[in-house]
Amino acid sequence: MKILFVNACVRSESRTYRLAEKVLQKLGGEVTEVNLEQENIAPLTSHTLEKRSKLVAEKKYDDDFFRYARQFAEADMIVVAAPFWDFSFPALLKCYIEAISVVGLTFRYTEKGPVGMCRAKKLIYVTTAGGFIPEENCGYGYFRSLAQKLYGIADTQFFKAEGLDIVGADVEAAMQKALNEVEQKL
Ligand SMILES: Cc1cc2nc3c(=O)[nH]c(=O)nc-3n(C[C@H](O)[C@H](O)[C@H](O)COP(=O)(O)O)c2cc1C
Repeated sequence: MKILFVNACVRSESRTYRLAEKVLQKLGGEVTEVNLEQENIAPLTSHTLEKRSKLVAEKKYDDDFFRYARQFAEADMIVVAAPFWDFSFPALLKCYIEAISVVGLTFRYTEKGPVGMCRAKKLIYVTTAGGFIPEENCGYGYFRSLAQKLYGIADTQFFKAEGLDIVGADVEAAMQKALNEVEQKL
């Protein structure tokens, strides 16, 4: 099984990364990591959007410009790790979403709406938060919508540890609870 690990963790002591490591260990399989801080993908601009539209119109999907989209579309399983930032996730991940959301590679439009073209049967999203994640969950909730309604990955699962930055919080206990959940549910 080819697992794509999309790593949007930034801090060297990242708790989100620790939780994701447990997920990857439980899954087994061949893991390819995309470390978003190292990749430093730029947001789309007038120049790059024009370039992309031209490549799509000419169906030049083998262009290096689409390497992230091809990799995402071809994975058997996807694990996304992103800390809960500003009620969602780091901008690094939004730039990655722009890079992978390519018509003709990860989805296509039909009269009945977008149809996903990704091979993955499942996507797992991992996060940790300083406080508590509100019900609308703009991090996982947003990525779940993309997975299910755009990329065609129906099965999604969410693991989290919350309240880690609350003064006096037992961080290790909260992490153990999340790690146990991974152990039991995967
Ligand atoms: C830039 C930034 C934004 C954050 N925004 C939120 C937030 O909106 N809600 C929240 O509960 N915690 C927020 N936090 C706290 C983090 O979610 C928390 O520390 C998390 O565990 C960080 O994950 P990490 O250990 O993997 O880096 C924020 C932290 C940073 C650095």
